[in-house]
Amino acid sequence: MSPYAHITGWGTSIPEKVVTNEEIAKMVDTTDDWIRERTGIRERRVASRDETTASLATDAALKALEVANLRPEDLDLIIVSSSSPEYIFPATACLVQDRIGASKAGAFDLLAACTGFIYALNVGAQTIRSGMNKNVLVIGSETLSRFTNWKDRGTCILFGDGAGAFVLQASEEPGGVLSSVLRSDGSGENLLSIPAGGSFMPASSETVKDGHHYIQMNGREVFRFATRVMAQATREAAEAAQVPLEEIQLIIPHQANRRIIEAAARGLDISLDRFIINVEHYGNTSTASIPIATCEAIDQGRLKSGDRIVFVGFGAGLTWGASVVQWSGPILPKRRIPPPFSYRIWARIRSLLLRLVRRMEGLIWGSHYPDGW
Ligand code: COA
Repeated sequence: MSPYAHITGWGTSIPEKVVTNEEIAKMVDTTDDWIRERTGIRERRVASRDETTASLATDAALKALEVANLRPEDLDLIIVSSSSPEYIFPATACLVQDRIGASKAGAFDLLAACTGFIYALNVGAQTIRSGMNKNVLVIGSETLSRFTNWKDRGTCILFGDGAGAFVLQASEEPGGVLSSVLRSDGSGENLLSIPAGGSFMPASSETVKDGHHYIQMNGREVFRFATRVMAQATREAAEAAQVPLEEIQLIIPHQANRRIIEAAARGLDISLDRFIINVEHYGNTSTASIPIATCEAIDQGRLKSGDRIVFVGFGAGLTWGASVVQWSGPILPKRRIPPPFSYRIWARIRSLLLRLVRRMEGLIWGSHYPDGW
């Protein structure tokens, strides 16, 4: 029988710096009232100069491993989902692999914009269901503030920075990720994008002058699309898992806009009390929003082992999707594992040694090249 993929560890990394609506109103023509009324957002977090998508992802990853009682070297695979990766390449997942010292893990990035965490969760879960992997780390991490035009009131009010991570583990016990619905519609490519810096519009002084390296969005159209797909995807995922909506304890939606979540609740005829909503404090943290909201639900005692929940989201692409999950919690017995900072130190030493060995090999092999190479 194929093993089940359980969520057994979780963690977040939230930048300390808070930017309130009042502060944004000093930069662009807007007001706290307008932002709160149209989005439900009061404040968002913004990464400091030292914080990057990889550093936030690394923090969240180490916390999730600690909850799962797992060591970095136990990991088989790391998937980072991000709309604001460290580089175009290498993958941010490889940087996390190096920084936590996950010596046996494959690592890659997955891009499905704000739906990315749901995509990554399902890809990770399927590698467990197929028997290929036992322990998978899935991370959503963002520093969207670096891609935000702080002079564009249509977008700068919305986004925030942060990261969240889940550990997925194989177990014969039924539960974990029960279903997934992943959808896309690329005809909406122009509704939400960062146009410059890719192969279509390579970065140049012109693209920077014209601000094409910033997020561009048709807010009204994205809003219409989101309100259409959220309820529909939730229903489809529940049907696929054969779990009636009444038996779903909690819905944890992508946190983009309170009005979009309210529309989904109306569309499903489910009380808002069964939704986790924290967009007020973080804004839209894209791929990080679902794991951050999940961790808050756990901290508030709203999510317990055995609960059946739905993750549902939407984003650029266009993409959308949902998953039904039976919540598990740690499955390994509590054991003494070193604290996260010791992994960091060991991983740093390991990384420096690997770089040194590569250098030495370069010197040795360099002298062995035949003449003329
Ligand atoms: N402050 C004050 N006025 C603003 C404003 C701001 N920050 N942003 C836009 N406006 C103005 C517009 O210029 C427009 O003025 P006009 O009527 O004179 O042309 C008016 O407010 C209404 O604009 P509209 O775009 O229709 O507002 P809205 O109610 O749709 O709210 C968003 C705008 C962006 C908040 C909303 O469309 C939204 O949340 N969309 C989804 C975006 C999203 O979730 N993106 C991420 C997907 S993962």
